[in-house]
Order: sequence, then structure tokens, then C-alpha cells
Amino acid sequence: MDVQAIAQRSQQETSRDDCWFERDVVAGLAGKVKSLPAKYFYDVAGSALFERITEVPEYYVTRSEIGILQSYGLAITGLLPAGCALVEFGAGSSRKSRILFGTAANIAAYVPVDISGDFLRKDIVHLQKDFPHLGVHPVICDFTTEFDLPESILSLPRVGFFPGSTIGNLEPSEAGGLLQHFGEVLGEGATLLVGVDLVKDERTLASAYDDAERVTARFNLNLLKRINRELDGNFVLGRFRHLALYNAELARVEMHLVSECRQEVRVAGRVFQFDAGESIHTENSYKYTLETFQDIAGENGWSTIGAWTDGLYSVHALTRR
Ligand code: TRP
Repeated sequence: MDVQAIAQRSQQETSRDDCWFERDVVAGLAGKVKSLPAKYFYDVAGSALFERITEVPEYYVTRSEIGILQSYGLAITGLLPAGCALVEFGAGSSRKSRILFGTAANIAAYVPVDISGDFLRKDIVHLQKDFPHLGVHPVICDFTTEFDLPESILSLPRVGFFPGSTIGNLEPSEAGGLLQHFGEVLGEGATLLVGVDLVKDERTLASAYDDAERVTARFNLNLLKRINRELDGNFVLGRFRHLALYNAELARVEMHLVSECRQEVRVAGRVFQFDAGESIHTENSYKYTLETFQDIAGENGWSTIGAWTDGLYSVHALTRR
């Protein structure tokens, strides 16, 4: 693959993204209920903090998922067609796909789809070294938009992979739409592996998103830092605090940044007023039961062919009807 082309492309996209960042932030802060889009968490510092979140003791999600992929790897990959292409949506790091490549010889190609060309460039070199027989065909794009799979894999059976319970960061109706979209991208006869975090007691959930070391708090607050830096903002970080709460009625963990006092903040030449205690809603992480997730999958063109859980987290194998 062409590393140079990836670098150029990602630079062009960066400048286009900048103007969306400003528009989205201004719109989010101007609303009656303030919010900011979670996709902007992942600048360089945010991505590094997220890596650390996956290692804090309270955040069981990553450990559970890796444990399930390792323990049930043979059963999971046993459901995949021989010589298939694994298409990973939002391939933040290929760590989890690697577990599948290491378990099974029936995966012939890997298509990491990620908006960050930088990441793809770094990771692929190592991946090729570790799995020399794997055809690696990165696609740089936002996987929620329409895009074409690389031509070189169109003759192979396709398997989508969407780990990390990222599906939970969407509204349930959007999650259904995304599952349909994956079906369209992957095409006839596809298989889909999805990681989904499960509903559980409030204490476990709330602390997974509010660790004692305060890494998640820093991750959340980093969004304000990014706004200060990139959009000429003047948020004082000490005047906002991280709040994670489990909303049992909606089965979601909500992340907020709460204003500690009445204050004014300037961003991109505009002024926004905050009351004491007013929040900026930054993220939701919806939790499912095996059944509520399978219902959504079923309503959006996918039948369940397998599901594995450690009691905290689940991995589902679906086939396109
Ligand atoms: N998909 C992850 C999750 O919902 C994302 C995540 C983990 C996250 N911790 C976070 C998002 C903290 C925002 C804040 O578990």
C-alpha cells in the first residue's frame, strides 16, 4: 500500500475537519441543553488518554472483550468462511483483530477502516511483519459514510468486525441504522462480529467511567483543552468537573462536564453563558442485554449465529439475511 498517499490524504482531511469542528462545537454550546460531539475526543492527547482508560482497573470493557476473543477464539473464528476478508470498522488499533488472526488461518485479508491515516500507517508495517500471509488493504474514511471496499477483496467472503462497544456510543435507533449500513457495505452473505457491553449494576458501570486515577476525567476535560487550542477558547479547566452517571431508565452511562460556577466562556469569537451546575453532555454509552441487542440486530437485517459473554460483556456473531 502507498504510505505517501495516506499521509497526503490525511492532511487534506485535517483541514476539512477543522471547519466542522468549529461548526459542531458552536452549535453544541449554543443549544438550550449544551452538548459536544464525542468524536472530537480523539486528538493525539485524547487518543493516548483513551489507551490508558483501557488499562485502569475499573474499566473492564477492554479486558473483558480481549478475554472473550481469547477464550472463545476458536468457536468465533469457526463460524467464519474460509479465506475471508476481515473488515474492521474504526480500527483504532489492530490489537483485537490480531487475536483473531493468531487464532485462525481462515482469514486471508484485513481491511482496517479508519479516519486517521496516521494510525493506519504506523500499525500496518508491524502487522505485515507479524502476519506475512495476510493481505492488508487499509481504507481511510469515516466508516459511517458510504464507501467502497477495496477491489482486491471483493472476490472474498466478507466479515465485519466492530469491537469496543462503540455501537453503544450511538442512540439505539442510530445503532440500528449503522448495522444496516454495515450490511450494505459488506454485501450479500456477510458475517458481522460486534462487541457489546452489557447492562449491569450501577456501581460497576459508573466507576468504569469515573476511575479513581481520574484518567477518564482527564479524557473528558481534554475536549475543552482541544477547543481552547484549536478554536481559540478560554475554558478554565478547573471550573468544570467530569461527571459519569448511569441512567438506568435509558440503560446508558452519560458523560458530562459540569460548570462549577456561573461563568462566561469564549470560543471562536462567541460567548457562551454557563449557570453553576449546568452541564455539557459529551457522551453516552448505551448498555444492552443479549436479547435487546439481538432484537436491534434482527430488526436491521442480521440474524444471530453466536454470542459469547463473560457475564459483563458480549461478542455477537451475526449473519446477513
Ligand atoms: N466505546 C467506549 C465505551 O463506551 C468509549 C469510552 C470509554 C468512553 N470510556 C469513555 C467515551 C469515557 C467517553 C468517555 O465504553
